[in-house]
Amino acid sequence: MLERVAYSAAQRLRLSWYGGQKWLSARLTGPVALPAELEARLPDRARLMADLGALLEQDWRNIAAGHYLLPEELAVRPLAALRKAGRYFADLRRVDERRRSAANDEVFRAAPSGRYPRYFLQNFHYQTDGYLSRRSAELYDHQVEVLFGGGAEAMRRQALVPLKRAIEAPGVRRARLIDLGCGTGRFLRAVKSNYPRLAVIALDLSPFYLDEARRVLAPWSRVEFLAAPAECVPCQAASFDVATAIFLFHELPARERRQVAREMARLLRPGGMAILVDSIQLGDVPDYDALVEYFPLAFHEPYYAHYAREDLAALFADAGLALEESGVGYLSKMMVLRKAAQAGI
Ligand SMILES: C[S@@+](CC[C@H](N)C(=O)[O-])C[C@H]1O[C@@H](n2cnc3c(N)ncnc32)[C@H](O)[C@@H]1O
Repeated sequence: MLERVAYSAAQRLRLSWYGGQKWLSARLTGPVALPAELEARLPDRARLMADLGALLEQDWRNIAAGHYLLPEELAVRPLAALRKAGRYFADLRRVDERRRSAANDEVFRAAPSGRYPRYFLQNFHYQTDGYLSRRSAELYDHQVEVLFGGGAEAMRRQALVPLKRAIEAPGVRRARLIDLGCGTGRFLRAVKSNYPRLAVIALDLSPFYLDEARRVLAPWSRVEFLAAPAECVPCQAASFDVATAIFLFHELPARERRQVAREMARLLRPGGMAILVDSIQLGDVPDYDALVEYFPLAFHEPYYAHYAREDLAALFADAGLALEESGVGYLSKMMVLRKAAQAGI
């Protein structure tokens, strides 16, 4: 009972904090020019808030059912939060200037040639330095939470439910997990808070985001960090019980999306589980289709429009992973996929 009250109070505070900054950001940056037809179809705030509330309700039910612990990010650290917000607003003008001039190649012009794939060298979301600076890595999670009005962590946590099933399954001992495109390690922090002894690999192309992940995951042992492309992972085949990709697929070009799905299948042992959490796609929540069309217009997301139409179940099936379960939580969808118990499917 006391936990429920604490959870609700902390979430209310979070939603006001990030929702308030979302509101203020919209005032400071002005509207994105949209076709009137698209604007007319956008869902209203009340609908979005109701669905965000439903996600948090589900999050609480998962905690109460013992699927995972009360998350530690609910404990607010006011000074750190204020500092992050200050830096976010200081950077917002630059993000908005990029949006207005559709400037997305600063990273490409500044990056050493040959070190990263070309598609990665963009100012995704029009963010300063793209994924390639410490400053960007330090701001990223705040930017994402503002974008989702405080719901990002709860969307990621949906993956903890099938994860528990996977690593507590009979016969699974000393499980290993790899998180592809781990970013700053927020999902892995939730994983390690619940399973401190689980061996995990945090993989990302950005060494700067990995450095931030190192800081976030410093309290735990059995964490390895790999700066590598998810489409060509330097790890043995069949060496993981679980492979996760959280908000990665919508940022990949079509060809790399297929390669990463194949890598997930290769990395998993027979019977292993892949878990994907990513943006909803067209048709997942028909009332949100306009929002899915709007997103790549307002934020630099060069591969999102194609992602939104991709048949992910078919893409994974081609890679050797069969869809076991899928569901929607606020603006995200989760897919649970399984490699056949016998190799060679
Ligand atoms: C939208 S962020 C998601 C980060 C994190 N999983 C989360 O939940 O916030 C995408 C991340 O994927 C990384 N990334 C993008 N393309 C990649 C690739 N081909 N291989 C590995 N990491 C990649 C980026 O550096 C970034 O950290």
